[in-house]
Amino acid sequence: MSAMQPMNKVISLNSRRPAADPSRGRALHATRAATRAISITSGKGGVGKTNIVANIGYELSRSGQEVLILDADLGLGNLDILLGLAPKYNLSHVITGEKRIGDVVVEGPGRMKILPAASGIQELTQLSGDQKIGMLYALDQLLDSVDILLIDSAAGISPNVLDFSVSAHETMVVVTPEPTSITDAYALMKVLALKYDEKRCRLIVNQVSNENEGRDIFRQLNIVAQKFLDIDVDYFGCVPRDDIMTTCVKQQRIVSQAFPESTAARGFRNLARKTGALPAQALSSTDSHLLWNHITREDLSWK
Ligand SMILES: Nc1ncnc2c1ncn2[C@@H]1O[C@H](COP(=O)(O)OP(=O)(O)OP(=O)(O)O)[C@@H](O)[C@H]1O
Ligand SMILES: [Mg+2]
Repeated sequence: MSAMQPMNKVISLNSRRPAADPSRGRALHATRAATRAISITSGKGGVGKTNIVANIGYELSRSGQEVLILDADLGLGNLDILLGLAPKYNLSHVITGEKRIGDVVVEGPGRMKILPAASGIQELTQLSGDQKIGMLYALDQLLDSVDILLIDSAAGISPNVLDFSVSAHETMVVVTPEPTSITDAYALMKVLALKYDEKRCRLIVNQVSNENEGRDIFRQLNIVAQKFLDIDVDYFGCVPRDDIMTTCVKQQRIVSQAFPESTAARGFRNLARKTGALPAQALSSTDSHLLWNHITREDLSWK
């Protein structure tokens, strides 16, 4: 199996499992609590993904949801730094087999759970297909008690980034009003559509001056995405640019916790409310929380 093989090709090997047919699976097996797996990704780096994930996670956790955040920026993770955590172990120890996945989970603000990534280990940005599958199946075992899994992706369009993104039920693309961020978001959507057959994503516009700016950017992107890629982009919301974010990063505290009444915190709270309202999917007892879309998709494409 090639190291850079797209994940949904690999998944087809696993879709021979009996529960791969969704209707049959539901008929034969007891259902279990569903986890909403949401990936936050972007074409350009530095647009605010990690802050969005951390603040949404914090708000949802405080509202009583069980939240797990996967830092999927495997080689350059910094979610733990943003949250002021100093985890002893991280996902690199899971990949090398030194630790089990449950052993590297740490608790963050608001009691949300974090799976920290390593920083500065280049090999982790080039995992083999088998290693990625192994990690996703290990992760799946943690999800029985999780309501919402948030995947904080690395930026870009490499298979290592997108293989994790597309394993989630929902892909959210983050942009800022900078033209480079918008063109990179389009490039990301293009790869998602053409290589991974992802025909839907949601858009978050971060660092806007006002609500209209967010909607305008969405309209621009949606027109070209529909026309040239035949995909549907849903507008999920925007977060205002707020200088208080710089203070928070320096203090290693998230804005929703440190300055809950700031404009940025209000924006994140709004996104968290919408995230909490996304529909969950009922799963049979043998279904994977993750990969569900892809197993189903592979099966359908065989018919
Ligand atoms: N709404 C906002 N207003 C002002 N600054 C913001 C806002 N959101 C994020 N930032 C700032 O942007 C910078 C990048 O944020 P963040 O690390 O969350 O981006 P990222 O997309 O995760 O980056 P990477 O691609 O490197 O993982 C940080 O310094 C953060 O404080
Ligand atoms: Mg980040």
